[in-house]
Amino acid sequence: VTWERAIPAFEQAVRDHHRARGQGEPTAATVATNGPLVAKRAENLIHVLEALTGRGTLTGLHVLEAGSGYGALAAYLAAELEAERVTGVDVRADLVESARAAAAEAGLDDRLTYRVADLRSLEDVAGASVDLAIANNSLLYLTTREDLDAALAALLRVLVPDGRVVIYQANLLRLSEPFSAAPLVHLLPARLAGAVARVTGWRHSHGRVRLVSPPGLARAMRRAGFADVRVGAMRGGSVSRSVPVGRFLAGAGRRPT
Ligand SMILES: C[S@@+](CC[C@H](N)C(=O)[O-])C[C@H]1O[C@@H](n2cnc3c(N)ncnc32)[C@H](O)[C@@H]1O
Repeated sequence: VTWERAIPAFEQAVRDHHRARGQGEPTAATVATNGPLVAKRAENLIHVLEALTGRGTLTGLHVLEAGSGYGALAAYLAAELEAERVTGVDVRADLVESARAAAAEAGLDDRLTYRVADLRSLEDVAGASVDLAIANNSLLYLTTREDLDAALAALLRVLVPDGRVVIYQANLLRLSEPFSAAPLVHLLPARLAGAVARVTGWRHSHGRVRLVSPPGLARAMRRAGFADVRVGAMRGGSVSRSVPVGRFLAGAGRRPT
């Protein structure tokens, strides 16, 4: 089954999930993010993987997609990128259920599994069982330094020796707030951001997400025990390891042998 043929099942699952929860219709952007835009998002990740680790294929690998949401990205990795096996985990049982239903409907469920797990522990994911862990737009939802440290330790634990982690998410060092596009509020401490937001009407996401800079993420990854840590800002579609400013950041690390 190709991803192209699986798209309708994943789009429909997003709609069904919204309706079942009384949330009405999902936005076109939400549907597209889990449908036609997935290929581009996945190819971008592979580009980053190659730039940071020198390996540009998933052939033969057990891939963990950490924080898999509606499951579309994990499905693409299984359907199009020849991963041997893909496991998607998410803390929300409702999203895991939606992902499972879509994968089954699309006939993609033989090398693809979704299960409930918290990024901070990855309970039920066996130690040294994953060749490549991908955290795409998920670690930013850990709102304290301790939670990020716990998640990085959990990712290290599930990787095989020499296994790699790839992290991709909004960068702290950017000019506009990633969710509301308001200028600079994300760079202020939480209390100040709240005060500025009240005066200006700008919306901020303090408390809901915690953004880190490329050097900040690199330090956290080294603290957790990763080797070959490389983190940079996305600039012009590539990872820059000299200028840390850019809307997104990408990082990779290796579990030492
Ligand atoms: C923006 S979505 C990204 C989905 C997917 N990785 C992608 O790129 O399409 C972030 C996901 O992280 C999940 N998440 C947030 N905190 C988590 C935690 N502590 N443990 C596991 N998943 C978590 C959310 O439930 C959500 O599904």
